Amino acid sequence: MEIVTTDVAIIGAGGAGLRAAIALAEADPTLRIALISKVYPMRSHTCAAEGGAAGVIKKDDSFDLHFDDTVGGGDWLSDQDCVEYFVKEAPKELTQLEHWGCPWNREADGSVAVRPFGGMKKQRTWFAADKSGFHILHTLFQTTLQFPSITRFDEYYALDLLVEDGRCQGVTAMEMRSGMIKQFHAKSVIIAGGGAGRMFPFSTNGAIKTGDGMALAYRAGVPLKDMEFVQYHPTGLPNTGSLLTEACRGEGGVLLNKNGRRYLQDYGMGPETPLGKPQLKTMELGPRDRVSQAYWHELQKGNTVTTPWGECVMLDMRHLGEKYIDERLPLVRELGIAYLGVDIAKEAIPIRPVVHYMMGGISTNTKAATQLPGLFAAGECACVSLNGANRLGSNSLVELLVFGKSAAMSAIEHMKGLPAPNKAALEARAEESQARVRALFQRTDGNESMSGLRKEMMDTMEKNAGLYREEVGLTEAVAKIAELRQRYNKIVLHDKSNVFNTDLFQVLELGSMLDCAEALVVSALARKESRGAHQRLDYVERDDQTFLRHSMAFYQGQQPPRLDYLDVVMTKSPPGVRDYTGDHK
Ligand code: FUM
Repeated sequence: MEIVTTDVAIIGAGGAGLRAAIALAEADPTLRIALISKVYPMRSHTCAAEGGAAGVIKKDDSFDLHFDDTVGGGDWLSDQDCVEYFVKEAPKELTQLEHWGCPWNREADGSVAVRPFGGMKKQRTWFAADKSGFHILHTLFQTTLQFPSITRFDEYYALDLLVEDGRCQGVTAMEMRSGMIKQFHAKSVIIAGGGAGRMFPFSTNGAIKTGDGMALAYRAGVPLKDMEFVQYHPTGLPNTGSLLTEACRGEGGVLLNKNGRRYLQDYGMGPETPLGKPQLKTMELGPRDRVSQAYWHELQKGNTVTTPWGECVMLDMRHLGEKYIDERLPLVRELGIAYLGVDIAKEAIPIRPVVHYMMGGISTNTKAATQLPGLFAAGECACVSLNGANRLGSNSLVELLVFGKSAAMSAIEHMKGLPAPNKAALEARAEESQARVRALFQRTDGNESMSGLRKEMMDTMEKNAGLYREEVGLTEAVAKIAELRQRYNKIVLHDKSNVFNTDLFQVLELGSMLDCAEALVVSALARKESRGAHQRLDYVERDDQTFLRHSMAFYQGQQPPRLDYLDVVMTKSPPGVRDYTGDHK
């Protein structure tokens, strides 16, 4: 098996991975950096982000206010030292992107423009029309091209971490076009592999978001933290699940039920505000968990609109006018026409909540370090505990910049004074990884199909681990996912070839998703309270006495994970009431 010897291996080349690579290359041009990604970097899911990235920039704003919004928005499950660090770093990172060429929208006076976003009580979301993720990713990608020390391994699927002497020293990965497995020996490894929203059938997530990075760390003994917190974005296209950015509401779009009522005023997000003049803090600018949950209540009351794609509510932006829509929301207009035949400049568009983001992930500290020496993680795959129980829209694009850079700095620190690697031992670990894949190819005695199991997993997650949960459903989900993990061992590959074997990669991805799904439902069943995105019909109150703690799920092979808890870090904001009423500007 070929060995690639490098200083740092980065798994994932979306926003967090690219930011980490640049930070490493800038800090020390002699470092060898291997950037390993299962897709070409510009196809990473960062590209799909639309609305923008949050950072204090205007005179009426402050770090304290961004902190308060983030901690309150996260229902006090955020680690406050992490949030304090994040809000201060955010504007620096966004300004750095500007210097690298990111075309942020401008105010008339030439300064950076910001727009309102849900749960942010001041305007602080920097944006590039409604294609912010594309421009951020492009900016980062083009910046990496100037560093010869970054070697890209595009379309490589990471298989297993190489752990020896109690530290992470590399990874194995398969080149997808040849089926060749390579072992990467590295002093530090950074996982930046994105989220796992594809566990659910209705998701804004690209097909690549299958939790591979989370599962890599989990199987190597690193706990997955707060996995029960799954964000539903309030406004997905009802047929494809495509994101209609929160900027639709930030720019003044309103949500209507079948009676034409702006129903959010009935769910603690009033009073109603004039059309086209969104008031920060109220109505459509409430936080995502609350706005999505309000849809569910409207559904129970029979107030939704029946469409060919299921029950929906309506997002109305007609009052913004065609010219403004084309300037600020051109992609949204294009998506509505292309996928639903609805022109948002002329008609209200049906939408419904859709799985969008995992607040949980690989447990890291504020330095992006995991508890396994040599292993770091950043971006959606990580849970640095910035977002708590509910992420505010536009914090995550900045999170991947701030903590992508932190991961790089920590990786460098870790390398200092490391002993020489035990090459033979690492090769033995890599052989084990290769044998795992070989066994999959050689299996003939199974009767399960990848697509069959994947559908059962998705159906279970949607039915039992969605917007509202309860004991019976979660218990059923725990049993079902455990059963699926057993049956997973009976999947037989139909395609035995080496070249772009998508059958193989989908089986591996399903394995990652099942591991993540099990951590999610086990954590959700044990959390007997309602907080942020985790709402229990049988435990409707937040319970700070018992559950102001992070869930930590530890991998136990074929057995369900072992659960433990970790205290939330509090610095200056004791748990309080989330208030989204009022008349703030
Ligand atoms: O609605 C959006 O544009 C999504 C932003 C985010 O998830 O941060």
